[in-house]
Amino acid sequence: MTYPIYVYGHPVLRKIAKDIEKDHPDLDTLIADMFETMYNSDGLGLAAPQIGKSLRIFVIDGEPLGEDHPEMKDFKKVYINPRVVERKGEIVPMNEGCLSLPGIHEEVDRESELRIQYYDQEWNYHDEVYNGYKARVVLHEYDHLDGVLFTDRLSPLRRRLIKGKLNDLTRGKFTADYRTVLPAGK
Ligand code: NI
Repeated sequence: MTYPIYVYGHPVLRKIAKDIEKDHPDLDTLIADMFETMYNSDGLGLAAPQIGKSLRIFVIDGEPLGEDHPEMKDFKKVYINPRVVERKGEIVPMNEGCLSLPGIHEEVDRESELRIQYYDQEWNYHDEVYNGYKARVVLHEYDHLDGVLFTDRLSPLRRRLIKGKLNDLTRGKFTADYRTVLPAGK
């Protein structure tokens, strides 16, 4: 099942998401639906709050980036109850977009390296270190679980410059080729 994407301004995107219990009902279905929803909206990653579920889980498939970033080609993963336990390396700018902010793309500064601990779909525990594009995509998705959007990480000046566009999003003045849920619930 393809879910609609919740758009900027919706309160679910600002909540601190809750850990998932091991006996969470239909977790496999949720994960399959998250991948399906992500593929149908041409996203590289999708976090549960973006489909209106305040749960600590996100999915990533870097395949579309594979040509320019070979390390992303087989980077398909599910992150359950992840914890970023270390951020290091240089702070680097990179262009980001988000399915919850259709039409907005900005340079975002983030650490170039991280260490993350998480469970996969079979509840196997992982402790991994990423850098480059992997770190970028993971940090973006991880932010969603804490109610943080990439526009929060822009300079005050840059944020002011796109304020009009953000307001338009909350009012439904945007185009997206996937179904969306607006803040007013329309
Ligand atoms: Ni996003």
